[in-house]
Amino acid sequence: MVLDLVVGAFWAMLPAYVPNNAAVLGGGGRPIDGGRTWRGRRLLGDGKTWRGTIVGVVAGSVLAVVLNLVNGPLSTLLGFSLPVFPLRAGVALAVGAMVGDVVASLLKRRLGRERGSAVPVLDQLDFVVGALVLTAFVAPSWFAQTFTPAAVGVVLVMTPLLHVGTNALAFLFGLKNEPW
Ligand code: CTP
Ligand code: MG
Repeated sequence: MVLDLVVGAFWAMLPAYVPNNAAVLGGGGRPIDGGRTWRGRRLLGDGKTWRGTIVGVVAGSVLAVVLNLVNGPLSTLLGFSLPVFPLRAGVALAVGAMVGDVVASLLKRRLGRERGSAVPVLDQLDFVVGALVLTAFVAPSWFAQTFTPAAVGVVLVMTPLLHVGTNALAFLFGLKNEPW
């Protein structure tokens, strides 16, 4: 069925979706790169902070636990079972999302893009790739069961749409400096 595929894929990705938004809300303070530059450009820039990264990882991991708590009643209501997160999968989704975002930032600086510049596709999928790859390593059987090829396809189409939408909202509410 299409609905359980889409809802299940969305549910399974929630611990990876929330970290970026939590980092926007909780970010600030000391940048991860400590201001260091390489060949005249920042390694990461002021947009990647320790506090934002930690807040993001904690938010995504805690969310996985909360989602497990409401899984039973919600699955009953929907009439199909939503994925349950083993702790290591929830943490891997959150950590992977933040690492993917940081790696993309590193790439952006090497390409000469300033902090906050938009790099379509990379901006929307960096955290997805990070989250899926790390989770595939950390929780391989759960990953294979949850992220079937069809579910991965749904994630790759759905995520950019959600990402563009939530970032535009964060910009409108003055939480983010750019609408991407
Ligand atoms: N943020 C943070 N730590 C992170 C990721 C994000 O503190 N690891 C916060 C920063 O305040 C950042 C904001 O969230 O400015 C938006 O994140 P993002 O768009 O990913 O960063 P950019 O400022 O666009 O920087 P970059 O160009 O390096 O991606
Ligand atoms: Mg940005």
